[in-house]
Amino acid sequence: MKALITAGGHGTRLRPITHTQNKHLIPIANKPILNYALEYIREAGITDVGIITNKEGSEVKDVYKDGSQMGLHITYIPQERPSGLADCVRIAQPFLGNESFVFYLGDNIIVGGIARFIDEFRKSGANCHLVLARVKDPERFGVPELKDGRIIGIEEKPRKPKSDFAVTGIYIYDPNIFEAVNAISPSARGELEISDAHQYLLEKGFKVTYSEITGWWKDTGKPADLLEANRLVLDSFETRIEGKVDTQSNLTGRVVIEPGAEIHNSNVRGPAIIGAGSKIVNAYIGPYTSIDKNCRIENSEIEFSIVSCGCLIRNQKIRIESSLLGKDVQIVDANSKPFTNRFIVGDQSQIEIR
Ligand code: DAU
Repeated sequence: MKALITAGGHGTRLRPITHTQNKHLIPIANKPILNYALEYIREAGITDVGIITNKEGSEVKDVYKDGSQMGLHITYIPQERPSGLADCVRIAQPFLGNESFVFYLGDNIIVGGIARFIDEFRKSGANCHLVLARVKDPERFGVPELKDGRIIGIEEKPRKPKSDFAVTGIYIYDPNIFEAVNAISPSARGELEISDAHQYLLEKGFKVTYSEITGWWKDTGKPADLLEANRLVLDSFETRIEGKVDTQSNLTGRVVIEPGAEIHNSNVRGPAIIGAGSKIVNAYIGPYTSIDKNCRIENSEIEFSIVSCGCLIRNQKIRIESSLLGKDVQIVDANSKPFTNRFIVGDQSQIEIR
């Protein structure tokens, strides 16, 4: 069995971070989002993986190369423009061939991996197996209509959802999906919708089965989703101290200090991770915070946040919270007159100052 993973798309809801970075490379607990998908695929015993990328984007390729560093064989499939998830399946047909495969949306994170869903697909003899999760806001997702334990219809982002389930970004298909993705037409927003392909299979009498996710699942579409995914992943961590912690510092709860990280006269309250080469000096790092590699946090407090590599936070009087910092961001005090607030921020940045 092969796997197809998406890593293209617009990433508009995560601007400005996605102006300069593919959203699938944003770190969650110091690992790119896409790593989670690749790890689940490998755990399920699949090593032949196709990744859909933006036409211009070599970023994902630069990180994962041929996949051998993760024990995978990766083929990159560039998409002309983000024309929908069914288009991703359509253009990957030459790679996927005439076999069953897993289609995994690279911005989804799930606890417990995907091997159990592949087993259920095989046992059920289905043509298409979907993974559902109960959600508070089904109108953001593909939504199934269920009757007597069967899916009888699927709609994409319906205004009036027919159930409180979302179709998550984990799908297992046999080759009949190619008939569906080649038969459907673009939706009102101009995309070939995967939900329309599923509806096609249902209407043509193909067997569509499902599993329900009992643990957590996250579609990391918006900044708040990333912070929540970061919280959930950090919650599963065990303490691991591989860097240097001086005697003036206190670590409480489950904390990961990666090799080469240094903690001086600071409090780190877990769950939290401090990346390799980062320095925490006279600072407080609160729960659910991920500080990636080569950052410096000095005379400042931060919690429930994601800090990408190379950031500098210095002399902040008010605790930073619920924040998402891209690479090499600097939040520092003004150290020359006039003592004013000065900003050099990219398009669509958000700054909330107290
Ligand atoms: O996460 C689950 C939801 O994913 C499902 O409930 C929906 O039915 C499904 O349509 C999808 O909705 P989203 O609006 O969340 O899809 P999004 O545009 O965010 O794209 C999902 C992934 O696919 C993400 O990794 C980006 C990538 N992508 C997307 C499109 C439209 C591509 O690589 N190419 C594309 O053309």
